Amino acid sequence: MVHISLSPNLEKDDLLTALSRLFFVWEWKGSKYLNKLKKMFADYFANDSIYFFNSGRSALFVFLKSLHLKIGDEVIMQSFTCNAVVNPILWAGGKPMYTDIDETFNLDIQSLEKNITQNTKAIIVQNTFGIPARIDKILEIAKKHSILVIEDCAHALGATYKKQKVGTFGDVAFFSFGRDKVISSVYGGALMINNDLLKKNFENEYKNIQRPSVFWTLQQLLHPLITYVALGMYNFGGKYVLFGAQKIHLLSKAVSKIENFGKKPQYLPCFLPDSLAALALNQFKKLDNLNLHRRNLARIYEKNFKDRDDVLYIEHYDEGTIWLRYPIMHSDADKIKKEAELRGMILGDWYREVIAPDGTNMETMNYQLGKNKTAEYVASKVLNLPTNIRTSQMEAQEVASLVKAYNWKQQFKK
Ligand SMILES: Cc1ncc(COP(=O)(O)O)c(C=O)c1O
Repeated sequence: MVHISLSPNLEKDDLLTALSRLFFVWEWKGSKYLNKLKKMFADYFANDSIYFFNSGRSALFVFLKSLHLKIGDEVIMQSFTCNAVVNPILWAGGKPMYTDIDETFNLDIQSLEKNITQNTKAIIVQNTFGIPARIDKILEIAKKHSILVIEDCAHALGATYKKQKVGTFGDVAFFSFGRDKVISSVYGGALMINNDLLKKNFENEYKNIQRPSVFWTLQQLLHPLITYVALGMYNFGGKYVLFGAQKIHLLSKAVSKIENFGKKPQYLPCFLPDSLAALALNQFKKLDNLNLHRRNLARIYEKNFKDRDDVLYIEHYDEGTIWLRYPIMHSDADKIKKEAELRGMILGDWYREVIAPDGTNMETMNYQLGKNKTAEYVASKVLNLPTNIRTSQMEAQEVASLVKAYNWKQQFKK
């Protein structure tokens, strides 16, 4: 079955890692896996200023807090995003300023320049769906105005821009190990500091955060097990198992409902527990393979849509793109998604709102509808196709064929 979400990176060895951590409860307080994960990250980026958290938004929040923002201080970010990027700004007392996007679904340079004011303190550079932003231009502008650059690598661990690793350009970078991300420990994230001047204030904040509760950790460790079983029997009640497990809080949600209204759940921010570091470590070891698979599926989609003018896709503009998901734009995106579901293919809806997920309160997020026309247009048409390791090349071809066939059917009806 094709499923873009629900632990899409999960393989048997990840399952065994989760099981073993559930068994070795007495090791939960240690730091064996955290130390190994730190070493792997440090070697990968040639930088050991890495700090682990229980989510990407925790990492961003604690960093922004360390800047001691004053009332009116602004942080620029793009629209066509998730409230998990906006909320840390609000929680840290800053004001989000939204740019429009360009044809790579990333921050638009002209719009960035228009949004800079005397109160701008930082720019968050999202690498949407693992497509690298034009960071060289952004750095130039930031330098001219003495503004900090934060790379949001939640979608882009392992991506490169002009052959340099994404995450090594800005003053800091943060990563997510959320369930749908490049590597997954269900909940998790990291901050990497490239500018030593920012370290002292940040470490002062970092030392004050806590471990998450035992129940919260247990909830995350159960996620791979429950989803693995439920996905195996998805059409035979598995769907309801997932729904029920979430209802009784045996499974966590990626974004809680209160976050749609700018509120902070009490489990954020926390350290990454060692047992979840074990999951992230196991996945990190497979990073190149996971990303190679994503690129291969992207190539299949690209080939299929090359001669089609009804399906808009991003031209392969940088070899370093990792394609966490493969976005296309289609005027019948919702209908295709529904039809695919009937055939056992669950496609994705990042970001059908300029600030996702659906239900996010735009007023709380300080976004005025109508502000960023391209972002709103793309949000109204976007559909994401799976590139995850659980989707085979043959299944990707089936997904592409379904998208193409949908249009023929429509033409036939006319
Ligand atoms: C672009 C982007 N940045 C940051 C985040 C935050 O990551 P996390 O879910 O680990 O807090 C998300 C996740 O939802 C995201 O989509």
